[in-house]
Amino acid sequence: MRHLTDINELTVGEISELIATAEDIISDPKKYSDACRGKKLATLFFEPSTRTRLSFEAAMYELGGNVLSVSSAGSSSAAKGESVADTAKTVSCYADIMAMRHPKEGAPLVASMNSSIPVINAGDGGHNHPTQTLADLLTIWREKGRFDNLTVGFCGDLKFGRTVHSLISALSRYTGIKIILISPEELKLPSYIKRDVLKANGIEYKQTTDLIEVMPELDILYMTRVQRERFFNEEDYLRLKDSYILTPDKLKTAKSDLSILHPLPRVNEIAVSIDSDPRACYFKQVLNGKYMRMALILKLLEVTV
Ligand code: CP
Repeated sequence: MRHLTDINELTVGEISELIATAEDIISDPKKYSDACRGKKLATLFFEPSTRTRLSFEAAMYELGGNVLSVSSAGSSSAAKGESVADTAKTVSCYADIMAMRHPKEGAPLVASMNSSIPVINAGDGGHNHPTQTLADLLTIWREKGRFDNLTVGFCGDLKFGRTVHSLISALSRYTGIKIILISPEELKLPSYIKRDVLKANGIEYKQTTDLIEVMPELDILYMTRVQRERFFNEEDYLRLKDSYILTPDKLKTAKSDLSILHPLPRVNEIAVSIDSDPRACYFKQVLNGKYMRMALILKLLEVTV
């Protein structure tokens, strides 16, 4: 039995297979409409979500399966003090696979160690978000047709942004990748990721506070929201929240084939007027997330179509 708590639990070859499955689902969705008949997905979301929970649920319905859902911590026995381990053992009695979002880093890993069904990390605190990375990778693949030889700028909250951490881990396994880290001093990428991921894989990277200066270099610009829920005080959040706001004038020096990604939700980081720019890919990312979650559910349930 396989879980997915960290993107690097999937090999590069398995990521290519998931992308191939997602592409096949996109081209022939009917072929998959009964693939998970009789199977149940439990979505356990102890933190707010729109895209991840709904796309997991849409994915399971489109595979012909059913869904059991806990949509907030307050509506489950976690509010009475039940442990993650006991929750996982309980949900294993009712469902065939579970997706868990939790404010505590490592909670889905603990769940996987106490579960008799596959557990998918749907975002754990400021740590990882591997299925967002699957959505990001399909988007990059569809836009660029490759993962090698790309210059990728990550902009905003690189300290708490779990989607950034997972995507950097995933991209670090490809060749010719250059990473540009654009953030305020206080929101720089954690040192352990620079050491254990970027340096350990020999990835070329640089850090800057200036988005405009590096814009002409970028093939991909990955914008992020400043993660208010991870701050210890509101004053710091208010000071940093609008550090980077992408507006059309800031794209004047960008490549004509730049791809602008954002895991969403957006607060103020990308002007709405950019949504109609052909380089804006963030709503394609939303849809790609559903297809990659369908492919992942099939893989973890060992369903072949
Ligand atoms: N990208 C993402 O995780 O969005 P939600 O928080 O809405 O699930």
